[in-house]
Amino acid sequence: MKNEGLKGIIAAQTRISHIDGNEGNLIYRGYQIGDLTDKYSFEEVAFLLWYGCLPTFDKLSILKSELKENRYLSVTMKSVLDLLPKDMDLMSVIRTVISAEGKSDYQWPPTIDQAIRLTAVIPSIITYRQRTLAGHAPVEPNSKFDHVENYLYMLNGVLPSKAQVNALETYMILTLEHGMNASTFSARVTASSESDMVSAITSAIGTMKGPLHGGAPSGVMELLNEIGTIENTENIIREKLNNGEKLMGFGHRVYKTHDPRAKALRKKLLELDGQDSWLDLAIHVENVAINILNELKPGRSLYTNVEFYAAAIMRSLNLPSELFTATFTASRIVGWTSHVLEQAENNTIYRPQSEYIGDFKGS
Ligand code: ACO
Repeated sequence: MKNEGLKGIIAAQTRISHIDGNEGNLIYRGYQIGDLTDKYSFEEVAFLLWYGCLPTFDKLSILKSELKENRYLSVTMKSVLDLLPKDMDLMSVIRTVISAEGKSDYQWPPTIDQAIRLTAVIPSIITYRQRTLAGHAPVEPNSKFDHVENYLYMLNGVLPSKAQVNALETYMILTLEHGMNASTFSARVTASSESDMVSAITSAIGTMKGPLHGGAPSGVMELLNEIGTIENTENIIREKLNNGEKLMGFGHRVYKTHDPRAKALRKKLLELDGQDSWLDLAIHVENVAINILNELKPGRSLYTNVEFYAAAIMRSLNLPSELFTATFTASRIVGWTSHVLEQAENNTIYRPQSEYIGDFKGS
């Protein structure tokens, strides 16, 4: 049975981002991603994605205040968090608690205020769950801190260093948005039925959870832990590929050259942590794997994707692997909500067709 996963099909026009997979470029609303990570904050780039332009000083202050005001978990969200089984994975927890936000004020059409609320509250869900599971008291949001700094503060209960905030902010800006990826498509399909923002976002979270999409960084960590030393690299990679396994953190549906986000993260890591032996191993694995992939899968143009170095960033921040996909969700919520808003501007329900290849029985 053929299933091409809609490869190469244009599902919608968008003004939000552009990916040039052959040249390895990523553009948000006309700006090169490298220019944005060098010069702007999480809040400024979120504003750009939601409103279509960079904010003035005053508009940025308003957005920052709105994000701060919306960080608090509702009583319902806290009750749901306290009730969920301890062995429920974090992505399922986020999906369920976001569902609990779906009150009557989340009706079609979606609004930027809803996007701000969902973006602001996700770090609070993640950190509340993480800390209570570890037997620690949750840390309340601190209005002195901006979005990324506050996330790290609520997670660890201590003020993060500037370098830590900068590393995570770079990662989050790089992963805010990425065209019609699987989770964004899910959000748009749900929104296209004129369902509400919360429903669209829970669809996206469910899609993000899968190991072929947002679940890859934990797989990268497992791969690097399994390889362990520079000497083991070639044998383990060959063995995996000969067994028909996919290498986590390699390959991309759209990029047929280096993923610009992986390149930007690698540069940031080298600035931060140039002496780290684990990072040396990651760079070695990247080089060896690309050569072997080129030899065993010629013409497939397989390089590292953003998830490969995302794992390294998360590790340098001492984030446990269960937080990787959740942290990706905390940034991609901005892209999802931007797409839901864009879908609502000129909506047509998504309704592709399938080709029946079964039997015709009877008369
Ligand atoms: N390791 C080994 N071989 C690979 C890999 C990989 N990581 N990725 C693709 N290939 C091979 C496939 O086996 C296939 O080979 P074949 O022609 O001999 O059958 C060929 O390259 C094409 O692969 P597809 O799976 O058809 O490519 P597709 O565009 O459908 O998949 C995907 C892209 C899902 C990302 C894939 O590369 C993959 O599974 N990578 C590993 C998981 C991963 O890192 N996911 C994160 C992606 S980034 C993100 O979601 C934010």
